[in-house]
Amino acid sequence: MEAHALEAVERLTTRPAEPYETITVDPVTPLIGAEVSGVDLSEELTPHQEKEIRHAFLAHHVLVFRDQDLTTEQHKRFAGLFGELHPVALPEEGSDPHVLEIRATKESRAVAGNGWHADGTADAEPSLGSLLHITTVPEGGSGGDTLFANMHLAYELLSPAMRTFLDGLTAVHDGALPWMGQPIPPEYDIPRNEHPVVVRHPDTGRKLLFVNGPYTSHITQLSRPESAALLDMLYSHIARTPLLQCRVRWQPRTLVFWDNRCVQHHAIWDYFPHSRYGRRVAVNGTRPQA
Ligand code: SIN
Repeated sequence: MEAHALEAVERLTTRPAEPYETITVDPVTPLIGAEVSGVDLSEELTPHQEKEIRHAFLAHHVLVFRDQDLTTEQHKRFAGLFGELHPVALPEEGSDPHVLEIRATKESRAVAGNGWHADGTADAEPSLGSLLHITTVPEGGSGGDTLFANMHLAYELLSPAMRTFLDGLTAVHDGALPWMGQPIPPEYDIPRNEHPVVVRHPDTGRKLLFVNGPYTSHITQLSRPESAALLDMLYSHIARTPLLQCRVRWQPRTLVFWDNRCVQHHAIWDYFPHSRYGRRVAVNGTRPQA
């Protein structure tokens, strides 16, 4: 690895240990993800527990809570500690407007999130994060894992010259792109917004790479072929650099809370024709800023 990449990794692996008192935090990798235990999310959290979970969230970006028996109201209450709930883009008739059902069955011909992406980046204010509670895992107990990738590191592992080049650029994110030619429901108010290619995390100020395959249409300052080649290189970097990534294996009643501002994720559909179910609640974010 080149010196700048080693430095980026070393900054994380030599961080002082975090002194948690109310929860236990076991990193999934030194660079992304942590399993959090010792807390029952169906109960109201104490201010100290809440503070420590916030700290772990900013440090690890993806938090995995096992064995959580949650009603929808408890799920929403926990999410609500982090901000207003983010409405589902196209809620099903009669469903809760803040709860997205994640459902794959033998009838499915596609599943949500089966490719690297961040959620809803075509919105003016993409969500802060998502909290997915899986209730049913595929028959046999394996399959349906989710991959997560750290976009701070994705940026920091690029060469200094590439980072400088990307720093001034902006990209258009288009909500029509994920439909890939399929008919778009008339009630969908298609979002389309321009965001910096490199943004700063609103809570930590740390830079990160903010483009993703399903939503980013093009880089504004480049010709279309230049933009396509650069975006391809960046997506390939994310997909082909395992040290950016962690993989979460779900069990029934696992809840994962990921930071949508600095993480991309990829749901793996390796269990057809078996079924997987869960519910996702998201929290409002702010406009990405360079
Ligand atoms: C998604 O939010 O993209 C789905 C994630 C998953 O099903 O694991």
